[in-house]
Amino acid sequence: MVLSTEQKNDFLARGFSRRSFGRIATLLAGGAALPFSHEFAFAQVAIDNRKLPPGAVKIDNNENPLGPCKEALEAMSSVLPQGGRYMFYLPAELEELLGTQEGLKMSAKRGESYVQVHDGSSAPLLQAVLSFCSPNKSFVIADPGYEAGSEAAKFLGAPIVQVPLTKDYAHDVKAMAAVKNAGLIYICNPNNPTGSMTKKEDIEWLVANKPAGSVVMIDEAYIHFAGKEKYTCVNMVAQDKDVIILRTFSKLYGMAGLRCGVAMGRPDLLKKTRGFGINWNPVTSVTGAMAALKSKTVIPERQKINNDTRDSTIAFLDKKGFKVVPSMSNKFMVDSHKPTRDAIAALRKENVYVGRPWPSMPTYLRVSVGTPEEMKKFQAAFVKCFA
Ligand SMILES: Cc1ncc(COP(=O)(O)O)c(C=O)c1O
Repeated sequence: MVLSTEQKNDFLARGFSRRSFGRIATLLAGGAALPFSHEFAFAQVAIDNRKLPPGAVKIDNNENPLGPCKEALEAMSSVLPQGGRYMFYLPAELEELLGTQEGLKMSAKRGESYVQVHDGSSAPLLQAVLSFCSPNKSFVIADPGYEAGSEAAKFLGAPIVQVPLTKDYAHDVKAMAAVKNAGLIYICNPNNPTGSMTKKEDIEWLVANKPAGSVVMIDEAYIHFAGKEKYTCVNMVAQDKDVIILRTFSKLYGMAGLRCGVAMGRPDLLKKTRGFGINWNPVTSVTGAMAALKSKTVIPERQKINNDTRDSTIAFLDKKGFKVVPSMSNKFMVDSHKPTRDAIAALRKENVYVGRPWPSMPTYLRVSVGTPEEMKKFQAAFVKCFA
């Protein structure tokens, strides 16, 4: 592919050499074929659902055991017979609906709005790293944090600066803002893997004090469990800050396998990320996502089910003397006092499958919140293995 003058100038400004233009053009044309993907790429303990033994408790990937809500299921079933048609207008309808709900300025022209639909939120995360980082511009991320974007940074040869969470498991916004050559500063709120929150005023401080030219990405994949209205930073997008917000339908909405997510940001920021190819969105997931967004009950109902199940499991572990990181999400971290890989293996023998290890928390397990019945089985297995 041929780079435009605007793209060439952007790459030179980020510190790429003219000699690297050939490689960059390949990368731009690569789109979905880029050699890195989603959490799965890190899942040393990845599991094929279909091969699990009967009664297995799969609480490893922060999925929603409830699956899509009934409104989404009905809408997707009714659009299926029309699946032979291109429905070019559908992603723009979803952008309009979500943007209006979130109080963002909308434009009738697709590509000029503050919302961009993707097949999941992994794509815009990786594309933002490719757009704003370079050998001279770092990818700044928390430790422990959701490291998917680091794969894109490695591909670019961009430095990855891992900033430890504070003792309260919040993002250390002062240390993150102090990274002088930051290209993209990534905040996950609530954080993955810990489920812990960073205060909105701290994120506001970061946006006001970050290095000039850098972009703050706020990944709100799990915000619905914490309380979207209270904690979202979408107002910073409405205020035209250097902020991109990610949301996904994979978590509370239970549509991980169906693939739908969005990036929200100033049109000029979103435009930059579009250079890396944007996938066409399946009509099923876009239709399901719109139906789910229109439901008035899905968020409060699912938030309550998840949070009650999570809190009773944490209370159980606490009573048994295990340390748990406070969580406002659909997962939590618990100290098993054993090296994480050994602990994962021990639980697997009990037919319980938990998340992958994070090196900076070497005896902690990340546990996703399953159904109340699944969490009872988890509790029994945990006590058997580690008490
Ligand atoms: C924090 C975070 N962001 C993004 C994603 C990617 O999700 P998806 O591509 O399914 O929207 C995940 C997946 O687990 C995640 O934990």
